[in-house]
Amino acid sequence: MAVDMVLKDGIFIENGRETVRSVAIEARKIEGIYKHGDEPRHRDSIDCRGLYILPGLIDIHVHLRDLKESDKEDYETGTMAAAAGGVTTVVDMPNSDPPVLDKKTLDEKIARARELRYVNVGFYSGISSIIEKFDVQMIRDILGLKVYPHAPLDEDTKYTRERIRECTRLAVASDLPLLFHPDLPASMKAPKNMEEFFLAHSCEDEVKSVQSFIDAKVEYEARLHVCHVSCATTARLIQENRAEDTLTAEVTPHHLFLSGGDFPHDDGLAKMLPPLRSPYDNKMLMEGLRQTCAIDCVASDHAPHKKWEKTAPFLKASSGIPGLETTLPLMLTEVFEKRLPWIDYLRVCSSAPARILGLETKGILTPGYDADIVLARIQEGTITGENFFSKAKITPFEGRRVLARVITTIVGGVVVFDNDEFVTGPGIAGKVPVQKS
Ligand code: NCD
Ligand code: ZN
Ligand code: ZN
Ligand code: ZN
Repeated sequence: MAVDMVLKDGIFIENGRETVRSVAIEARKIEGIYKHGDEPRHRDSIDCRGLYILPGLIDIHVHLRDLKESDKEDYETGTMAAAAGGVTTVVDMPNSDPPVLDKKTLDEKIARARELRYVNVGFYSGISSIIEKFDVQMIRDILGLKVYPHAPLDEDTKYTRERIRECTRLAVASDLPLLFHPDLPASMKAPKNMEEFFLAHSCEDEVKSVQSFIDAKVEYEARLHVCHVSCATTARLIQENRAEDTLTAEVTPHHLFLSGGDFPHDDGLAKMLPPLRSPYDNKMLMEGLRQTCAIDCVASDHAPHKKWEKTAPFLKASSGIPGLETTLPLMLTEVFEKRLPWIDYLRVCSSAPARILGLETKGILTPGYDADIVLARIQEGTITGENFFSKAKITPFEGRRVLARVITTIVGGVVVFDNDEFVTGPGIAGKVPVQKS
């Protein structure tokens, strides 16, 4: 019997070391890893000499917009950006228009994504102000519950201690992780200047918010995930509260590699929430990711906005930047420049995010796991927003030198993206919605 495909003689990471191996794919799964000459008979093959064979990135924090915000991004452009960026699974946030607070909206998003997808797409739901309104029918199709204390999805919600406890209990009852944007409910009116904006989203507030969610998590033995940690102090607090796998956290590439002082902040180029912090925070976040286990994984927080929303004066500009096409080049550059060991790269980009959301057959290249694979090579280049497949083309990483390039992206055994081109149409590869195994 011949297998579907063999990826031949690529550079494969085994026990943290580079070695040459071939990867066989059969029925959307990895069939086996072979030494040169031992490969099974196959119907199709790709010559991977000089290419790294890596697990696709699993990005558990993206905003693909669509529905009423299709002008910012839709499931087609968003998942094309993912595939081009070597991201084979994305998990879509509920702060869309309309927000995901009911099954009807969730089903609409699922239907759109199913039709337009190029990669695997999973979903989160928000929690409406009246907690009893939560439709348990959604549980099967979502990977977590997400809340925004500073900007509730349901307008009249106040994130008091009681509300946080209520959301935590719902997560436990649903057997889902509770994810949250760590920040406090807005205490002042709209900021009048830049200083007020940064003050309204301070590290102190981030820490206080994380502490309040940890308190509820401990009380109810919930699973808690902290989104986009941006401060050294927050990383320390999370580290002090580690307990098995019940407290996890993510960091974005921009909070790892960029600091506020790098930008004049006259427009929205580098405006996002949480804001960019200091070089010391950058350093401690990387340490949290690599050494102290305070932070489990990298997530892009891909947050596309329209061009005019990003070129507007800082206070008026929208928060959020595209990230699906920059995470892999930036992270692999760390590996190629010897600042990040392969073991850490594979963990923070693929295996840890899969584990956090209970995706038991994703995130590792081993027999029986899904054939979600990226072929990449060492190649010097610069990040250029104009070349993004995302509708959002303004990035604070513009012009940054990187050493890695995605050549081919394979989703569930199907070659989707190859040498700058899409070789399948939408709606063919990948699964929507991604469900817990
Ligand atoms: C995100 C968005 O635009 O949806 N913006 C951002 O600055 N990160 C929302 C969020 O992740 O908090
Ligand atoms: Zn061979
Ligand atoms: Zn957020
Ligand atoms: Zn976000």
